[in-house]
Amino acid sequence: RAPLLHCIADPDHVGIEQSYQYIEDGLLITCGDRIQFCGKAEDGLKNLPNNLSVTQVENGLLIPGLIDTHVHYPQTDMIASYGEQLLDWLERYTFPEETQFADANHAGDVAERFLNELLRNGTTTALVFGTVHKTSVEVFFDAAAKRRLRMICGKVLMDRNAPDTLLDTPESAYSDSKALIERWHGQDRLHYAVTPRFAPTSTDEQLAVAGRLLAEYEGLYLHTHLAENHKECEWVQSLFPESQDYLDVYDRHHLLSERSVFAHGIHLSDDAHQRLHHSGSAIAFCPSSNLFLGSGLFPLSSACQHGVNVGLGTDVGAGTSFSLLSTMGDAYKTQQLQGQSLHPMKAFYLATLGGAKALRLEDKIGNLAIGSEADFVILDYQATPLLKQRLPRCQSIEEILFTLMILGDDRVIKATIVAGEPIYQRDKI
Ligand code: GUN
Ligand code: FE
Repeated sequence: RAPLLHCIADPDHVGIEQSYQYIEDGLLITCGDRIQFCGKAEDGLKNLPNNLSVTQVENGLLIPGLIDTHVHYPQTDMIASYGEQLLDWLERYTFPEETQFADANHAGDVAERFLNELLRNGTTTALVFGTVHKTSVEVFFDAAAKRRLRMICGKVLMDRNAPDTLLDTPESAYSDSKALIERWHGQDRLHYAVTPRFAPTSTDEQLAVAGRLLAEYEGLYLHTHLAENHKECEWVQSLFPESQDYLDVYDRHHLLSERSVFAHGIHLSDDAHQRLHHSGSAIAFCPSSNLFLGSGLFPLSSACQHGVNVGLGTDVGAGTSFSLLSTMGDAYKTQQLQGQSLHPMKAFYLATLGGAKALRLEDKIGNLAIGSEADFVILDYQATPLLKQRLPRCQSIEEILFTLMILGDDRVIKATIVAGEPIYQRDKI
């Protein structure tokens, strides 16, 4: 029994008022790993068997589990690496860090800590980069499966322009990915994403392998980076002179699909937005990372106007926080710098139902609809001294939400429930 909030549609399509459901005295009933009832407490309590225990949430809010549409688990320990933009940052910090993931013990340790961080921040589903090493994905799926998390991950494909120890080949990319797909894709709540790092680190032969894998298996994702940084974009033009633009490099290898997610997509033409829309592909908007690496301001309004699916991503370790609440705050500031105001409900949509839609999982996660999977989060309005003072002054749920995305972080997450089980409780450590 709690105040409940979830999005039921895109605010851009139906208007703010119609886009969400807020029930001040709400009740959520789960049965196994599903939501069995979501509505007013007075309606739900009538039909409740007496032997059911009811948990009452005071001074808080129940929302769907948050969805991170782009994050790198191997970069957990390198957040806050100083002073570089994308290409130098990759060479100086990222590649050396990822080299360590040849060691399965190290990878397993980081995977556990990464998942702990996600849960501490209320994130229950993520689209996740591994490293080039097959084992990095084995240990990740193993750790996610134990917690029954809905997770998508893939081995990085990278056969040029990186240190030798981090390179695969088109052949090993194919056989390693195939083995991982056959072992993990579709197991319980896990999905596989074919994951070329980005165009500069794959040859045409390897991008063709990615296309071949997508054609061979049902329901696979394609996960990569696109048009994040100006120097990167120039480099792609020189490496692939025959391509019309950056997106076209992927398109020529049949990598644009309804399950394709491109991280960043900052520097794109209207025409590229149209091709993303027509193919049903999505962009992961990563505001914290875009600010940290000085990559640029993502044109959210233009992408949405072109009908591109957009989700929100932390992009740790270029992003500086696992918290999608604070990432929503960074999205707001990014829009401010472009003379636009991001409505808090749109930000919340991007971190829940919008993310689910970008990942084509909206029939399973992203809201509190009856029959959906029981992944949800309890927020605490009294989590910090500032919130305690500030939240009682809010006049509406929209204002509350805005205050939470500007002042909130991991401290606000009181509990995270996955498949009906409370697997993180802040005050029970
Ligand atoms: N482009 C290619 N690799 C990466 C990465 O690891 N992080 C980010 N932010 N961009 C990339
Ligand atoms: Fe990234």
